[in-house]
Amino acid sequence: SQVSLKFADGRLIPQVGLGVWQTPNETADVAVRTALEVGYRHIDTAAIYGNEEGVGKGIQSSGVARGDIFLTTKLWNDEQGYETTLKAFDDSLKRLGTDYVDLYLIHWPSPHRELYLDTWKAFIKLKEEGRARSIGVSNFCPEHLEKIIAETGETPVINQVELHPDFQQTELRAFHDKHGIITQSWSPLGRGKLLEHSDIAAVARKHGRTAAQVVIRWHMDQGLVVIPKSANPDRIKQNFQVFDFTLDADDMAVLAKLDNGGNRMGPDPMTADF
Ligand code: A2P
Repeated sequence: SQVSLKFADGRLIPQVGLGVWQTPNETADVAVRTALEVGYRHIDTAAIYGNEEGVGKGIQSSGVARGDIFLTTKLWNDEQGYETTLKAFDDSLKRLGTDYVDLYLIHWPSPHRELYLDTWKAFIKLKEEGRARSIGVSNFCPEHLEKIIAETGETPVINQVELHPDFQQTELRAFHDKHGIITQSWSPLGRGKLLEHSDIAAVARKHGRTAAQVVIRWHMDQGLVVIPKSANPDRIKQNFQVFDFTLDADDMAVLAKLDNGGNRMGPDPMTADF
């Protein structure tokens, strides 16, 4: 039932994970435990979400072995820099109640700070220490990726970016493919807004599935890692029932047409000033 993708560093990442953005500690605790109970083995959090403690509690109370879970967290922008990153990483581990993460991400390049290269050097050290098993980035554009690769020789295994059927990131994905970087989709459901679209509803009806399941499957069928967010037990469960059908070429063509090119819902990483 689970499907995993392989990073360039040889490690595996479960293709579908639970996102917990905007989920407070108590809710995150229950959401994570529910997800692990219904079969998820991949949880994606971040220091800035303020719920690492809840995520850690959910993992502990689930009874699932830590070694069977793929856990991601992210470094927040105001902790960028070499020493500050090492400290922030320790703080995240403490809150999560674990002694390693499977994946550590630089949350945003935050180019105006001019610190993402030093930050990446600290990430390389954390990987060498084995406390961050794999290291990657989020919201990076080709020029940020090119810079850290050229300066360190260490390519991030993954770039987690805004990606959904109406913002498909075709060019960035081609760049990733050239460099052996896996693409991970945040807000894969377009924050739920896309689920009302009549074309998606038609595909969903054809397969006897929900619109969310169709959109999650659309990410999977293109080799993307996908982390739908839900705090609702039924929807958490529903979003994981995606391993027993696939979309055909007609469906993929319908969804391909929904791309609106440049219209993001979230901030533009080039100009974001946070
Ligand atoms: P909720 O947490 O109440 O389930 P994204 O992952 O693109 O950011 O989308 C998350 C949003 O979509 C949340 O508001 C979430 O609400 C909603 N959502 C998640 N899964 C489903 C689903 N299966 N059906 C409808 N809405 C969903």
